Amino acid sequence: MTSKRRLLNSQSIVSAMVFLGTVAGNTALAQGTAASGTITVQVNKPGAPIAKTMYGLFFEDINFAADGGLYPELVKNKSFETDDHLIGWRAIRGAAALETYVVSSQNPISATNNHFLRMTAATASPEAGFLNEGFRGMGVKQGGEYTFTVYARKGPGNVSGLNITLEQQGTRGAGPEAPPSGAVLGQTKITGLTGEWKKYTAVIKPTTTAPRARLKITMEGAGTVDLDVVSLFPKDTWKNRENGLRTDLVQLLKDMQPGFLRFPGGCIVEGRTLKERYQWKSTIGDVASRVPLINRWNTEFNHKFTPDYYQSFGLGFFEYFQLSEDIGAEPLPILNVGMACQFNSAELAPLSASGPNPSNAQAVTEEPTLQTFIQDALDLIEFANGPTSSTWGAKRAAMGHPAPFNLKKIGIGNEQWGPQYLERYEPFAKAIKTKYPDMQIVSSAGPSPDGPLFEAASKRLGVLKAEFIDEHYYAKPEWFRQNVGRYDNYPRTGPKIFAGEYAAQSVAIASPDNKNSWDCAISEAAFMTGLERNADVVQMASYAPLFAHVDAWQWTPDMIWFDNLKSYGTPNYYVQKMYSTNAGTTMLPVQMPGNAKNGTDNLFVSSVADDKAGDIIVKLVNYSTEARPVKLNLAGVKNMGKTAKAIVLASNDLQAVNSLNEPMKLAPKEEQFKVSSATVSYTLAPNSFTVLRIPGKR
Ligand code: AHR
Repeated sequence: MTSKRRLLNSQSIVSAMVFLGTVAGNTALAQGTAASGTITVQVNKPGAPIAKTMYGLFFEDINFAADGGLYPELVKNKSFETDDHLIGWRAIRGAAALETYVVSSQNPISATNNHFLRMTAATASPEAGFLNEGFRGMGVKQGGEYTFTVYARKGPGNVSGLNITLEQQGTRGAGPEAPPSGAVLGQTKITGLTGEWKKYTAVIKPTTTAPRARLKITMEGAGTVDLDVVSLFPKDTWKNRENGLRTDLVQLLKDMQPGFLRFPGGCIVEGRTLKERYQWKSTIGDVASRVPLINRWNTEFNHKFTPDYYQSFGLGFFEYFQLSEDIGAEPLPILNVGMACQFNSAELAPLSASGPNPSNAQAVTEEPTLQTFIQDALDLIEFANGPTSSTWGAKRAAMGHPAPFNLKKIGIGNEQWGPQYLERYEPFAKAIKTKYPDMQIVSSAGPSPDGPLFEAASKRLGVLKAEFIDEHYYAKPEWFRQNVGRYDNYPRTGPKIFAGEYAAQSVAIASPDNKNSWDCAISEAAFMTGLERNADVVQMASYAPLFAHVDAWQWTPDMIWFDNLKSYGTPNYYVQKMYSTNAGTTMLPVQMPGNAKNGTDNLFVSSVADDKAGDIIVKLVNYSTEARPVKLNLAGVKNMGKTAKAIVLASNDLQAVNSLNEPMKLAPKEEQFKVSSATVSYTLAPNSFTVLRIPGKR
């Protein structure tokens, strides 16, 4: 029901977008031709500076992006705190003598993590124990080191220890050389159990690489043992941190040189109900005490039902800030505005300021009012930037980061709409600005980039002098090419634009058949020339969603796909990367041949100067099956060098995609070419996105 409502709603938005887009596109075509003639880059008439935040990242825990993805914990439901406490776990078949319970009351390890597993074996058996399946298996590498930790306590009987085994789980996708299901890949032991909770640590070194291993824990001897916070964590993490992130995925992000990192979403910010909303305070502090929450994407789509999808919060707000710092991106947290997802329950927090205001509570469990959400935002700013002597700054310092995280922007609400949003946004923004006048606020224009709700929100936010409006567009590839002029006539004095979520949908929004095709990626590249040409208005942009596990996704398309061991960037990833690594510092106006509109004859162009590198950068999209010779006049260029560089992403096949087997089928290629004057000739490949870097100054 929920999914249908969402799909229906979204499809009508898309139809409206496509209709409007078609009209706009035809008008552009009627106004001139750009097949030949000179493109003038007005190097001597520079425009706005390019914001450092211009091209960034949108992260949301959807598609197993966090647990099972960027956060490399291998044990699913390590603390037995999910609603069904044994998700991910099963007693070993044949262990007839094993009795198991999930217990919550008898001296748990902490008040928040108060469920644990009790195993009792009447007789000793090598099969008396439990298996954990991981996140669609556990990816382990031969020669790698994996730290096993567990809180354990002995009960009645004579259990002398625990045997910990990594073993092959099934044979799907394991390759012809793979060992049979159940084969041992690595082992270790825990001994010296006592009657008190104690943390035990051991290291497992797998003898074979396996994408889908599982963890087996069995008892040595007969009797009772209690287990909690069972963890298997690779030592190889980003910066070798103990609670660190998966290296290949962070590397893909860092390689993009992103301007910002938006987190934690997305609809996950809102939750299906207010109780299921994202509460940042529950995601910081000791990892063992973070209590999991259902992931709102678990049963959103019937076509990708994922009831075992929870958020462990091992990747929490501290880790998001740290990741932003690691990859050189400005952190951009998006907070709940007191509204649950309007595609789901649309539950609202009352506006009244009466009620609980637990500014120092670890997590909000009482019925919240708007004031609760406002206080959460103020506390977050203190957590990110406050001195170590402040309540929340001290918590940041205790987690190992005494220096501030330098938070400059905060988002109020994800993809909200209607008067309910605006009446919550206003007091929210006022409270933040009163306490933190320099904090910049990102506000929402809703899920659609046009229509009455969008118009009403944009108008009101303009009156309220909002700083950034977050616009979302999920639409067919042609919408992106036809709307390249979207921002050409936007007011220059109003709020700046954050193109906070966008992606071309090859079939339809939320369709499981959407592909990360070259057609989608090249259309996004075309559209982005329009963002860049309007860099005085558009100051942030991010593709969405970012990550997807090939065996556990809910939403497609996505920028980066991975399995338990490998990952690859889609053509869309390379488009984003080509923009962000060639963002430049100053916009340069572009005049198309015959003063035609950008996009005429399916030629799309934008240009920037990179004042630091001393380059003029021209981005060109040729959405045509024919090669296209172009002539550029770099009007007023100074100090030109002789050797220019072309970075080219091209394919004759608009349906081409990358995959785990062919991760670089579509990837940028570089070539050098000679330039001798301010008139530069270059032939664009058919269906190509080309970045030219020409040494020269303005
Ligand atoms: O990117 C996927 C979802 O699309 C986001 O969570 C939401 O903001 C939008 O509707």
